[in-house]
Amino acid sequence: MPKKRRDDLNKLELTGGQPLRGGVRIQGSKNAVLPMLAASLLTEGRTVLTNCPHIQDVYIMIDLLKELGCKVKFENHVIEIDASVLSGCEIKSASAGRVRSSVMLLGSLLGRCGKAILPYPGGCVIGKRPINIHLEMLREMGVVIEKDKDCFSAETKGIQGATLQFFTKSVGAAENCIMAAVLAKGVTRLRGVAIEPEVMELCNLLRKMGAVILRTDYDELLIKGVKKLKSVEYSVPSDRIVAGTYMLAVAGTRGKAYFSDVPVRHMQMLFSLLRKMNIEYVINKDEVFLDATGNIHGISGIRTASYPGFPTDLQSPLVAAMTMQDKKCIVEETIFEERFHAVLQMRKMGADITVEANKIFINPVQTLKGSDVEVRDLRGGAALVIAGLMAEGTTVADGCHYIERGYENIIEDFENLGAGKIQIIE
Ligand code: EPU
Repeated sequence: MPKKRRDDLNKLELTGGQPLRGGVRIQGSKNAVLPMLAASLLTEGRTVLTNCPHIQDVYIMIDLLKELGCKVKFENHVIEIDASVLSGCEIKSASAGRVRSSVMLLGSLLGRCGKAILPYPGGCVIGKRPINIHLEMLREMGVVIEKDKDCFSAETKGIQGATLQFFTKSVGAAENCIMAAVLAKGVTRLRGVAIEPEVMELCNLLRKMGAVILRTDYDELLIKGVKKLKSVEYSVPSDRIVAGTYMLAVAGTRGKAYFSDVPVRHMQMLFSLLRKMNIEYVINKDEVFLDATGNIHGISGIRTASYPGFPTDLQSPLVAAMTMQDKKCIVEETIFEERFHAVLQMRKMGADITVEANKIFINPVQTLKGSDVEVRDLRGGAALVIAGLMAEGTTVADGCHYIERGYENIIEDFENLGAGKIQIIE
């Protein structure tokens, strides 16, 4: 059945205390599809993306593409974009300020039209999220940027290839520079570039559109600008963060589950961690059988880091899973400065968690108790649902619209994994 656009999720009520047992198929990746949608502006042809998740951030990006004049169809899990005629290069809609990915339109609009006017991007409340690296790198490529109070404009007489050295790894800035470089004059070298799977998938999509992109070293790309890109059809990979979230929920509840369409290759860090926790798993191509019914251990010394390190997007779900294990744990957040709201909410459920500077200290407890909690960001929201599923009694999570930004079917997925009833109550 085609999925309808839904934005009615606010308060969830769930009852926990049971091990998860069941199976689920992993959805397409949010952070892969969003830059791909932006990249569709780089061709006057058609872009067809399959395996797209029905999530709020995707809906917002589609609205922004329509505002620029694109014709967009989203049926089942296929998005078709016809960007043959653009009506402008300015985004006025306030919804651009609600998502981080709107900034990705900068690189592709500059590539296509030489000009872009955009509001400052938004996103989850996880700390300051500046765009200085995006802007500095694009300036090196001959783009003139002017900042206003609510928006910024960028203009170029032609993007120039340049050598760009990243001193801080940034997924979004890498994606913007790649999109700007594919139609630039000359050669662009990106050094110290983020190598997250989503960045590499964007490169693969662009290559299929006719771009010339070489990975010349571990974290170096060489891009030779071409005159034009062509129509493309591309399948969005599965979401490694959604897969990780659900696996950590099974670990936290000491359950047993089966997952299909898992991007196994990109989840090695999580698998080695599950192994250290004494969780058994069997991998068969893109299927994973996970058994967390044994004697599960807490583990310490985990730091979030850029790929291939432990992803910051799984920090809060990991902390939820660690609250009831057998050892003290310390988890260090090195990417975002304020990604701690959810783990502090878990204290209301009886978790023994403290945060000092960027470190989260977890003392294991015997049980968590259902409680009223407040969601303030996407992954934190998923983590609070995990904690609710681990807890005895009923949890009411307020602010769950954040979860719909990235999880297509969190209620149905957890029900398929054997969770008790999860109800939308507001
Ligand atoms: N940074 C700067 N200046 C910049 C850009 C980034 O200082 O111009 C800093 C950030 O503040 C952060 C660090 O660099 O401290 C890394 O940020 P990055 O640019 O890599 O993050 P992003 O591109 O804004 C993407 C994902 C995030 C994910 C991060 C890190 C998308 C749409 N978002 O964000 O996903 O956490 O990379 O892997 O791809 C999520 O899915 O819940 C989510 C937040």
